[in-house]
Amino acid sequence: MFTPYFRPRRLRRTPALREMVRETVLQPSDFIYPLFIKHGKNERLPIRSLPGIAQLSIDEAIKEAKEAQQLGVPSLILFGIPKIKDALGSESYADDGIIQQAIRALKEAVPEMIVIADICFCEYTDHGHCGIMHGHTLDNDATLELLQKQVIAQAKAGVDVVAPSGMIDGMVGAIREALDGSGFQHVPILSYAVKYASSFYGPFREAAESAPKFGDRRSHQMDPANVQEALRESQLDVDEGADMLMVKPALAFLDVIRAVKERFDLPLAAYNVSGEYAMVKAAAQNGWIDEQRVTLEILTSIKRAGADVILTYHALEAARWLNA
Ligand code: PBG
Repeated sequence: MFTPYFRPRRLRRTPALREMVRETVLQPSDFIYPLFIKHGKNERLPIRSLPGIAQLSIDEAIKEAKEAQQLGVPSLILFGIPKIKDALGSESYADDGIIQQAIRALKEAVPEMIVIADICFCEYTDHGHCGIMHGHTLDNDATLELLQKQVIAQAKAGVDVVAPSGMIDGMVGAIREALDGSGFQHVPILSYAVKYASSFYGPFREAAESAPKFGDRRSHQMDPANVQEALRESQLDVDEGADMLMVKPALAFLDVIRAVKERFDLPLAAYNVSGEYAMVKAAAQNGWIDEQRVTLEILTSIKRAGADVILTYHALEAARWLNA
């Protein structure tokens, strides 16, 4: 009989031994919880393809924020659903726009909560694209000016962190310049530096009512086949003054998370996007997988790949499981 000399199983024998040598430990403070904010009062409009997630009026969002805080989830990222969409997405930079109202209300009700605002136009424009359109082409540099207006409106409302998500060339530099020029030098930029033209955003577009009315986002979001380009995109955002980087989606792009983490020493976020969440929920509802174990395994793998923080719709549930 062959008897092995090396026995890695020795350190897996008991739960205590396994815990002692665990390399990646997930905690509620790793999570950023996305909220969809709508006008109105007392409203919670469930999103069919994101079970457990709803469009919330501001008063309901405050309840959700308090619950997040109790569970140890320290931050939220806000997406707005405007009353009226137009060609320029003007509600996104109005002082009384839905996100500006939400930022003020949340910072007043739950001051320690980190309120991050997504910066983009797709939820606010009638055509559903991420900036100013001329016919079927997105005007990159004209969009930068509008992004500057949007970020100032959010900063005036008291946002803690801004997160530009449109993959517009120069967005980080333009936003940094606008913030610094208006006395908001202290507001950090979490850049969606590496965002792929992914099919995993489907449920989000239902939630945020932001699907493009024509065409797609492939002229600005990245080709899922590329990783070298992810490093170049990250480098540009670092040079333009990003404080944190993001890779999105997460699960099908773990190698990209690792590559960005190894090259850059900025804190790195990864977005466990709507389609990733919806797949887990659907399989769990069918009784095909154990939702808790699968979810914690996915979130742990994203952290193991190199993410310091994870944007996830599972934030509150995962926090509850981790706290149990
Ligand atoms: C754009 C934005 C999108 C997501 C976050 N910010 C959608 C898109 O690019 O079409 C997707 C997030 C998700 O799928 O969970 N404002």
